Amino acid sequence: MEVIIAPAAELAVLAADAIEALLRRKPDAVLGLATGSSPLAVYDELARRHEQAGLSFARARGFMLDEYVGLPAEHPERYRNVIAREVASRVGWPAAQVQGPDGLAEDLEAACAAYERSIAEAGGVDLQLLGVGTDGHVAFNEPGSSLASRTRIKTLTRQTREDNARFFDGDVEQVPRHCLTQGLGTIMEARHLVLLATGRGKAEAVHRVVEGAVSAMWPGSVLQLHPHVTVLVDDAAASRLQLADYYRQTYASKPTWQGL
Ligand code: GLP
Repeated sequence: MEVIIAPAAELAVLAADAIEALLRRKPDAVLGLATGSSPLAVYDELARRHEQAGLSFARARGFMLDEYVGLPAEHPERYRNVIAREVASRVGWPAAQVQGPDGLAEDLEAACAAYERSIAEAGGVDLQLLGVGTDGHVAFNEPGSSLASRTRIKTLTRQTREDNARFFDGDVEQVPRHCLTQGLGTIMEARHLVLLATGRGKAEAVHRVVEGAVSAMWPGSVLQLHPHVTVLVDDAAASRLQLADYYRQTYASKPTWQGL
């Protein structure tokens, strides 16, 4: 696991650099897309590079991590709409090439299985962007999630619904109770995981995920078992890291030829 502690604006540039390098090397790369506020600055940076430097998503494929169950098709917080608005439409990404689990399917279990098949048929995810919840969830794998789980329906915790109420007029009752989410086992199959976290509210989760015991109680801790993980955090989110000085020294002396 590589932990990089830097100002938030720099983190977004680093994540965008990794995505750009991948797309230039492999124009039909498969990208894993996250929602939430953490990746927004990365999407801004990608939009800028698309406009100013011709970064092309024309042949790329995208797979979203998760989706609320039951939000109406046109709801602005439906993750499919969020991703279309925040990323796809801004980087010229053909809509048909970006998929998410179908939270409006009549048969949700079948939709989850179909989603797993689509990811596999695309050859798997090359680079997966991730955020982390204050309770250590990644995608919507709440505490207690099987570390081997696949795409499935989950019940959101009260904490997650409260955290996300800000996207629903501050009203927790408007936040759906269920979601479809890639499982931890699904996410672990992506070839490169890039986790972004900023702000003091994430400090405990970042510490547990990066340095705590691997445990379903802090679902993101399963990332410790992945061979290629980059954790991008600002000073505030890094404030509880035990080995922060070591991570800073390591990054300061990182060879320039070595990418993320
Ligand atoms: C949400 C999403 C996650 C996201 C996390 C943190 O509920 N399902 O994919 O990483 O919670 O969100 P934020 O980045 O807004 O703090």
